[in-house]
Amino acid sequence: MTPPLAQRATAPQILSRCRDLVRPALGLAVRQLHPWHGEITAFSLGWDGVDGGEVPGAQGKGVRQALAVLGAEAVGAKGQSAVLGAVAVELVHTFSLLHDDIMDGDETRRQRATAWKAYGTGPAVLAGDALFAQAVHTLADAPGAHCVPAVRLLAGTLNDLVRGQADDLLFESRPWTGPGAVQPHEYRLMAEYKTGSLLGCAAGLGAVLGGAGRTSTDALTAAGRHLGVAFQAADDVLGIWGDPAVTGKPVHSDLRRRKKTYPVLTALASGGPAAAELAALLRGAGPLDDSAVRRAAGLIDEAGGRVAAEAEAHRQLESARACLESVPLASEALGELLTLLPFLVERTV
Ligand code: IPE
Ligand code: MG
Ligand code: MG
Repeated sequence: MTPPLAQRATAPQILSRCRDLVRPALGLAVRQLHPWHGEITAFSLGWDGVDGGEVPGAQGKGVRQALAVLGAEAVGAKGQSAVLGAVAVELVHTFSLLHDDIMDGDETRRQRATAWKAYGTGPAVLAGDALFAQAVHTLADAPGAHCVPAVRLLAGTLNDLVRGQADDLLFESRPWTGPGAVQPHEYRLMAEYKTGSLLGCAAGLGAVLGGAGRTSTDALTAAGRHLGVAFQAADDVLGIWGDPAVTGKPVHSDLRRRKKTYPVLTALASGGPAAAELAALLRGAGPLDDSAVRRAAGLIDEAGGRVAAEAEAHRQLESARACLESVPLASEALGELLTLLPFLVERTV
């Protein structure tokens, strides 16, 4: 029976339950790494050393592991059966952030130094490689019948993820306007690859390891992919207008580095005087100073870029919900998934 709304777990409670379920196996996987990689991974995960506790405020939300656990529960299995999948996606997520912070030149994440700043670029690259390998290894230990489909799902995801990262990098050298300009639909696809792929993999892996058939697995995977685009659109809004206390990044950080994010691209695509002034500002050489980024943020808003990004986040969230509701899923887990979806996006928009 579906419990009444008042008794339903809140999003932080759901995330915390899933994190507690996964933590022992994740700790084991990290302890199996080379001690140097283990230390860098623990630092990246916000742990006080490989065997240590959590450093307050330094953890991620654990969205991917929660999706894996709930994916299994949604197909009628115990969340425990998805623990290996949850570990694999957390390892891949950590690997992708280690490398991403190097590619983006970011010096802080979650209010702390990034791993490459703290340990050096070479060690951070290597630790990422080690995590990638460990993620595959973790899934190789999945029970017989689930092992091959699980590894196949992860491998496809890794392909998509690096494809998305490649497009993100390539967008940097595309022009702001004219025939070569990045179009909003290209951005959506890039976001689905770079962010949605792993969220989809998490939910889908839960279903695979929970013994689900193709229809449920595909629906959960698709829901996670939509969630990824929603999350990215919301994150882009945060990258321009977010409070540094929430984002852990300097205010206007995405604009300062002239990042081609969804609000910027939709603003430019809108035409009109605000779009033209914005393009002129962004096209200029040299770093954008404080007053230029403030002006650019105002112009993006005026040209409808902020509203468009918020609407996109909302639309993608609705698509995620529709995917979940398109297949029969266990009602309590479905309820928890539906609680998590807006929490992950609305905290930012
Ligand atoms: C990160 O994308 C995506 C992956 C690591 C695959 P971004 O570069 O846009 O995300 P943040 O802002 O560094 O978290
Ligand atoms: Mg980045
Ligand atoms: Mg990046």
